[in-house]
Order: sequence, then structure tokens, then C-alpha cells
Amino acid sequence: MDKMVTIETLFGGIYKNRKVLVTGHTGFKGSWLCLILKILGADVYGYALNPHTNPNLFEEAQIDKLITSFFGDILDREYLDKVMSEVQPEIVIHMAAQAIVRESYKLPVETFSVNVMGTVHILEACRITPSVKAIVNVTTDKCYENKEWHWCYRENEPMGGYDPYSNSKGCSELVTSCYRNSFFNSEKYTDHGVSLASARAGNVIGGGDWADDRLIPDFIRAIVKGEKVKIRSPFAIRPWQHVMEPLSGYLILAAKLYTEGSKYAEGWNFGPDNNDVQNVEWITKKICKLWGKGASYSVDTNPQPHEANYLKLDCSKAKAALGWTPKWNIQTALISIIEWNKAFLNGKNMRKVTEEQINNYFSL
Ligand SMILES: NC(=O)c1ccc[n+]([C@@H]2O[C@H](COP(=O)([O-])OP(=O)(O)OC[C@H]3O[C@@H](n4cnc5c(N)ncnc54)[C@H](O)[C@@H]3O)[C@@H](O)[C@H]2O)c1
Repeated sequence: MDKMVTIETLFGGIYKNRKVLVTGHTGFKGSWLCLILKILGADVYGYALNPHTNPNLFEEAQIDKLITSFFGDILDREYLDKVMSEVQPEIVIHMAAQAIVRESYKLPVETFSVNVMGTVHILEACRITPSVKAIVNVTTDKCYENKEWHWCYRENEPMGGYDPYSNSKGCSELVTSCYRNSFFNSEKYTDHGVSLASARAGNVIGGGDWADDRLIPDFIRAIVKGEKVKIRSPFAIRPWQHVMEPLSGYLILAAKLYTEGSKYAEGWNFGPDNNDVQNVEWITKKICKLWGKGASYSVDTNPQPHEANYLKLDCSKAKAALGWTPKWNIQTALISIIEWNKAFLNGKNMRKVTEEQINNYFSL
């Protein structure tokens, strides 16, 4: 049995030939997810706006050549419904969002529209599409009411969110819970046959992210320009994790929702182990050291919009009930990011490089 066949049989082999629709597939996490799903043998469809950074992983890894892409606004309900009715997906992973905290301070109305009404639209579209059996709504660790304490947040804690991004994701969680109660209720599963869950991941890092105002992309941009990376909030503690970690969590969750019905239809945390919950300056020093010559940083002392200082997730539930566990610690994650970016700067084939990293991760 060769390696590809082994990988296809991961997640109980349920993704093979399965129709999966990913919203936000032109983004950082969406592009990785599409590649993974293709490796697993899925029939993949994407719905999103055109890539919003230049460069971007969607184009660098030529995702468009692998999957069927629909370019549309999640707020365009008519088009979204049409796409869903045409595709008839069995599994939907919803990731389309305005995903940047600082951007949400500049564009609060747009952030709430996309993150809240976008969730309503995709769930409505699922409601009228009979093929849909499993839905994962991807929110964030920032959806919890942040109490600035040292304990980890559990899935049963109140939703909240200080800034528009975090709050809009808390709202997206409330929308999910409303749809689960009102339309996809576990007690009536035999009538509707749909399982809906939400997933809350930490600060996701990986090759192929060029978003503004995120530490790793800021670091790479600074390296390319021969400048020091400027960090804000050096003491802010975040649950850093390689992009493969939450994505494997979403896939385990969607597989369970698909095969075992509504038993898993609730909120799930997917964060790193405690050793990898570190502050911004700690991570910056580590990545500078691993990169080597030319990497250094300075602290931006200008006043910054409010962002949480302490944020940790308790992932005991996903470990115990889903059998999910982080595989790459922060050191391995940062090494893989550096390898990815050095390959990019050396003009390598980024589809191949990304696929190799996916295969390495799954070979564990
Ligand atoms: N990157 C992280 O650290 C992180 C952490 C936790 C949760 N998340 C969540 O994961 C998901 C993906 O994040 P990402 O880092 O890949 O973000 P990203 O900004 O790279 O990608 C966002 C995607 O959403 C799409 N999108 C945005 N507005 C849209 C609209 N109006 N209509 C249709 N599509 C639209 C974009 O086209 C893009 O495909 C988001 O829901 C985000 O909130 C991200």
C-alpha cells in the first residue's frame, strides 16, 4: 500500500469522493484545506471572493486548477443559494470571514455583515440544500468573553468579544447555536439529517499567509525588505499553532458529524498544548533565531487598539471525545514555516512544497 493510499484512508476514508464545499477557500487556511481535501480524495468546491493579498497561496499553489471555484460574496444570498443547489455538497466547512482584528476596527460594519450575516446566509443555504449532512462553522478562540485571566477557556463559557472581529465571531457562534436549536435540532435528527458544529482555533501560523497585521507575514515582509520586524503588544499571550493542527481538527469533527450524526453537534476548541502558548516577543525571538542572518525585531511603542492580553484554550474535550491532539510543537511549526518561506523566496513549486508539508504532518 503506498503512502497516498494511506493518507486517503485517514479520517475513516470518508472524504474519498465526498462532495465538500469550503467557503473562504481563496484565503490562507482555505487554500491549505483545499489541498488537504484533494489529497484525501474529496470532490472539492470553493466559494469566496478573489484572493485579497498579493502574493497568495491560492494562486501560488494553483488551487484553482485542482478544485471547482465559485467567486462570489457570502452576502449575495441569491448566488450562494444557486451555487449550493448546483453543487449539492454533503459537507460544508464555513471559513469565509473578515478575519483580522485591526481591520475590524477600521471596518466594523463590513466585519459584522460578513461574519454574522455571512453565517446566517450559509446556514440558510444549507437548510434548503438536501444533500448537506455535516456543517462546521469556523469561528475563533477570540469568541469567548475575555476575562484577562490565566485559565484556559472551555467550550461552555460565555461568548463575548471586545473588538468588532472577536464580537462578530461570538455572534456567529450564537447564530450557529440558534440554527442548531431551531432547524437542526439533535432531537429531530432523523427528520432533518443535518449535524452542525462550530470550531474555535488559536493563532494560526503557517507558510502561505500574507495577511496584514499578523506576526509571521509581517516578519517575512520585513525580511524581504531587509528591515527589522516591528512587533506590537510584545507581552500578549496567544495560543500559536501550525495551520495543519486546526484543519485536522475540523476534518475529524466534520467526519464525526457526517458518520455519527448529531452526537458531535456542538462547539469545539482546537488549540496548542500549554508549552506553546507564548507571548509575541517570545515567538519573535524564536523565529529570528531559527531564520538566522538578517532577522531582527523592534517593539512598536505607538499606542495600539485594544487586543486581549491573555488567551488560552482548553482542548481537553477535543482530545477526549474526538481523539484529536496537536502533533507539531511550536519549534516544529516555526521550522516548517521558515522552510516554506525560504522555498518560496527561492522560486520553488509551492504546490509541491505545501503538499510535502501536509504529507509530513499526516505521516506522524
Ligand atoms: N488565521 C488565524 O489565525 C485564525 C484563527 C482563528 C480563526 N480563524 C478563522 O478561520 C477562517 C479563515 O481565516 P484565514 O486566516 O484563512 O483568513 P483569510 O483572510 O486568509 O481568508 C478569508 C477568506 O474569506 C473570504 N471572504 C472574506 N469576505 C468574504 C465575503 N464577503 N464573501 C465571500 N468570501 C469572503 C476571502 O475571500 C478569503 O477566502 C476565518 O473564519 C477566521 O476568522 C483564523
